[in-house]
Amino acid sequence: MALQEAADNLVVMRTLLVTGGAGFIGSNFVRHTLAHTDLDITVLDKLTYAGSRESLSGLPAGRCKLVVGDITDARLVDELVMTHDAVVHFAAESHNDNSLANPRPFVETNVVGTFTLLEAARKHEVRFHHISTDEVYGDLELDDPERFTEATPYNPSSPYSATKAGSDLLVRAWVRSFDVQATISNCSNNYGPFQHVEKFIPRQITQLMDGMRPRIYGEGLNVRDWIHVDDHSSAVLLIIEQGVIGETYLIGADGEKSNREVVELLLAEFGRESTDVEQVTDRAGHDMRYGIDSSKLRAELGWAPRFGNFAEGLADTVEWYRANEEWWRPNKAATEAMYARQGQWRAPRASGGHRHDRPTRLPSGHRFNRQSGGPTSPAGRPSALSVVSSDAAQSLSAEKAEDEARRSLSSWMSADISRNLSSCCRAWCAQNMSSPPPPSVTRT
Ligand SMILES: NC(=O)c1ccc[n+]([C@@H]2O[C@H](COP(=O)([O-])OP(=O)(O)OC[C@H]3O[C@@H](n4cnc5c(N)ncnc54)[C@H](O)[C@@H]3O)[C@@H](O)[C@H]2O)c1
Repeated sequence: MALQEAADNLVVMRTLLVTGGAGFIGSNFVRHTLAHTDLDITVLDKLTYAGSRESLSGLPAGRCKLVVGDITDARLVDELVMTHDAVVHFAAESHNDNSLANPRPFVETNVVGTFTLLEAARKHEVRFHHISTDEVYGDLELDDPERFTEATPYNPSSPYSATKAGSDLLVRAWVRSFDVQATISNCSNNYGPFQHVEKFIPRQITQLMDGMRPRIYGEGLNVRDWIHVDDHSSAVLLIIEQGVIGETYLIGADGEKSNREVVELLLAEFGRESTDVEQVTDRAGHDMRYGIDSSKLRAELGWAPRFGNFAEGLADTVEWYRANEEWWRPNKAATEAMYARQGQWRAPRASGGHRHDRPTRLPSGHRFNRQSGGPTSPAGRPSALSVVSSDAAQSLSAEKAEDEARRSLSSWMSADISRNLSSCCRAWCAQNMSSPPPPSVTRT
């Protein structure tokens, strides 16, 4: 069924409230929907660092308006949901690194925000579609013949995926308990226009545009299942129109690619040698592969991706970043600075290419110290953990990050050791020597 035909069948559906519509996938969905249907759209977006007005520029003002606000604001949400025919809920805190540094906004936006929207949808009996991720299922081994299906048990491992899993379960419960007219979709790794430069593919592209070498972990064997964002949009629109209430649909385009393959395709786009890659020591084992089986969506709703060829979709994306430097350039320096500050403290694993740059856990007892920008040991001291850059931060020099760790460690040492040295010496001398302890050390 053609999209417009399907939209026409839904006589009552004329207006959509799209949360997070100024972010990467949300803004692409808004463009897609305006282009393929007669629906009018209101975007509700807080405009965090991840959202921007520019991502909605050039859209017809008569059909698309932006309300800047928070999905946890119950009064605002109630007002907006009441006046729309359906809610498409993209808004989320979506970056795994941030979720480790500070999980609270993830709980607030992803869980409380979804709850707030569900309550309004329940009260006003408004159709609801919840956008989620395949990360709620955990990950697969490289040689696992299986892919994720709608029946795969939830196994989230980061605060990001845990809060997304929590929000999915809220939606299921609101369907079951309160008859909320909701559907859920869990999608794989998206790529395409308007993706923030903190994410793997835009970061590699913009690094290459700046003449730098891509960096991959080890052999770059980690596999991600890529889908062009426009294909995600077409699937979501179809589910809103034809999906069965209470059902979950997995969205994927059979786009499994190793990180090495992605980087080699990008190098070819830039006319660079396939070997022009900086390899960072591989750290075996975790989050090796994501793979989506989207046969339910294809068989039941007749969906098919338009970008069947990943290389072509990637080439289009490179072209977009080349042509839209004014969109991404203002965020580039701040993103690099953020990664430099965070230092990408990672425990052993290879993870390049994760869509949200999921970080590994620090060793037991170590915590991320937001002030020093690095890990601390159980005793609260800067850790001497080796520092590596993440997949999205692959161009951040590991040496630079290690320097940061050393600086952080030495600054702690100079501040605290000098403070404590004297008393330690005094105590040791008192126990072990008959002579008096040395005088106090005064720090200059
Ligand atoms: N990026 C992917 O590959 C991918 C894959 C599968 C699913 N998803 C899901 O798709 C959705 C969108 O992801 P994305 O990559 O476009 O994220 P994004 O970070 O690019 O955009 C998120 C948007 O939500 C807005 N937002 C954040 N907190 C808000 C709040 N409290 N109130 C209102 N707006 C708020 C931000 O300003 C931003 O515009 C998320 O739910 C994510 O879990 C993403």
